[in-house]
Amino acid sequence: MSDAAESPTNPQYFRKVFGHLPTGVVVVTGRSLDNELVGVTIGSFASISLDPPLAGFFIGRASRSWSLMAARGKFCANVLAASQTELCWRFAKDATAGTDGSDGSVGSRFDGLEVGVSANGSPVLPDVVATIDCDVHAVHSFGDHDLVVGSVTALRTLQTDVPAMVFVQGKTGDARIIL
Ligand SMILES: Cc1cc2nc3c(=O)[nH]c(=O)nc-3n(C[C@H](O)[C@H](O)[C@H](O)COP(=O)(O)O)c2cc1C
Repeated sequence: MSDAAESPTNPQYFRKVFGHLPTGVVVVTGRSLDNELVGVTIGSFASISLDPPLAGFFIGRASRSWSLMAARGKFCANVLAASQTELCWRFAKDATAGTDGSDGSVGSRFDGLEVGVSANGSPVLPDVVATIDCDVHAVHSFGDHDLVVGSVTALRTLQTDVPAMVFVQGKTGDARIIL
């Protein structure tokens, strides 16, 4: 491989190297001002501060879902279970494509799902391990992504005996391997 191919400015190479770093997976959900359900798969979600309670994630600035839910200033991180691979990919699909028979709207990612409601009114996906509700506290731009920092307003574990999803090198797996 040439030096240019291994450059930090080569996005494929950047992704490939960072792909070795395992992450948890959440679907960040919210509602648009028109009450449309919105959700996007996120691997960068993390706790930030205990006092005050803050959590956040990095989102690409081209994200259609984030711009819709940001208008309300609230979101909910749905922590996926290891078995929820379909939801992981469903909420990562290009919402503008509509090649899967859906109408191409962001709301169509929720088609056929029995969706609950979190404390702050955001959609709760079925059978997730935990939910973390946040009010948007701050948004800072770094390169082509925004860091969204949320004040945690409510959080709960919905299933204690179900392992969370781990994502590494493009594949989903089971956090139970270390439990
Ligand atoms: C496991 C996984 C983790 C992801 N993590 C992030 C992330 O942290 N930030 C981000 O901007 N996109 C992330 N993505 C990509 C988005 O889910 C994807 O680009 C999505 O189509 C964006 O949709 P939107 O335009 O409706 O926001 C991730 C995708 C997967 C499969």
